[in-house]
Amino acid sequence: MPELRIHLPEKYLPEQWYNVQADMSTPVPPPLHPVTKEPLGPDALLPLFPMELIQQEVSRERWITIPDPVREILRLWRPTPLVRARRLEQALDTPAHIYYKNEGASPAGSHKANTAVAQVYYNKEAGTKRITTETGAGQWGSALSLACNLFDIECKVYMVKVSYHQKPYRRSLMQMWGANVVASPSEDTNAGREILARDPDSPGSLGMAISEAVEDAVGREDTKYSLGSVLNHVLLHQTVIGLEAKKQFEMVDDYPDVIIGCAGGGSNFAGLAFPFVPDKLSGKKIRIIAVEPTACPTLTRGIRHYDFGDVARMTPLMMMYTLGHDFVPTAIHAGGLRYHGMAPLVSELYHQGLIEAKAYPQNPVFAAATLFAKTEGIVPAPESSHAIRAAIDEAERCKREGRKETIVFNLSGHGHFDLSAYEAYMAGKLEDYDYPEEKVQDALARLENL
Ligand SMILES: Cc1ncc(COP(=O)(O)O)c(C=O)c1O
Repeated sequence: MPELRIHLPEKYLPEQWYNVQADMSTPVPPPLHPVTKEPLGPDALLPLFPMELIQQEVSRERWITIPDPVREILRLWRPTPLVRARRLEQALDTPAHIYYKNEGASPAGSHKANTAVAQVYYNKEAGTKRITTETGAGQWGSALSLACNLFDIECKVYMVKVSYHQKPYRRSLMQMWGANVVASPSEDTNAGREILARDPDSPGSLGMAISEAVEDAVGREDTKYSLGSVLNHVLLHQTVIGLEAKKQFEMVDDYPDVIIGCAGGGSNFAGLAFPFVPDKLSGKKIRIIAVEPTACPTLTRGIRHYDFGDVARMTPLMMMYTLGHDFVPTAIHAGGLRYHGMAPLVSELYHQGLIEAKAYPQNPVFAAATLFAKTEGIVPAPESSHAIRAAIDEAERCKREGRKETIVFNLSGHGHFDLSAYEAYMAGKLEDYDYPEEKVQDALARLENL
């Protein structure tokens, strides 16, 4: 019988993060100042981030040492298991091998804790007393609350309003770890008040919540800001996922042909995929697929352009695939995938043709999640279920073509706080949303006028 759960001994918890920037033939275009539109020097980011994180943002070193206190905390749940989804394979009657990396094993329920611990550690070292952030699905807010609690730092979370109401227990979890949570747009910031004045019923978006958290951080000496995705240092911290997975594949003498991750801002996808990029560059035939919702199709329908990371145009401009910083996605249940932009590093690799992208509406995604829950037992986060949908489609292709490929996807989180979404799905109440061509043209016009 083949091993189902491939456990890596704790001593193999990675000692270094892998920095894909070292292996990219063309560097990512630099971020630009939001007002002057000139390339941004490291000092300009100091009101928001501690210097160590800014240095990681621009580093082209291939390997960056993980500090011992960070590894000490990661050991609470890492290495996470790589699991062979045999029952799913059997249900699909596919010759493919399907594996998933279970990042839902973290105490906060997702991969987000990997970077939260690192970011809070560097803030603590730099003397930060308080950290602000935004959260969509609540996964990032929970992860940051956990990490702030472990390092004894105050935490304020601006939670996208639609998720705040859909997920009251995520809120309780953050509060249990000591965070102060408000629904965004809120009355606590100028950005929030302006949005509410225009649209009192605004469902909120990640772009709006980022504006609020950034404004709060720059307005206070003792406070810094923390972002759960998109930035280079966040993606770097997530590479523990792929580094562990590579070792786990060695243990069972297998290797992936297809690597899949859902992509909101790009961090869990990058975490699994980036450590495999050097193998692809040196000739291995691997397909790497980022999966997104059709309601927010950043890679598949977006435009590669310099754009802001937030609605209020406070963040630096980044070169990325974007739907426009003022795009407000429909309130689909995969709240963590409702972001208008994509990590510059993921965008660059997509632009260079090293990765592929695919988009799905929510009903087929929830159908895949249900099959996964019925066969493997785990209720997945709606975000991760996009990756499951793509993995199932790849396994079905393998069946049609009679190919025994190895497929791995990132189970970026569990869905224990998403049961209202599953309830809506089972009651047939989920709507599928498209992104019409007029919106592409509209986004292009708005971006050209930036
Ligand atoms: C479980 C889960 N997966 C994926 C994502 C998407 O983020 P990213 O693309 O940065 O991994 C989120 C974001 O909140 C999430 O909660």
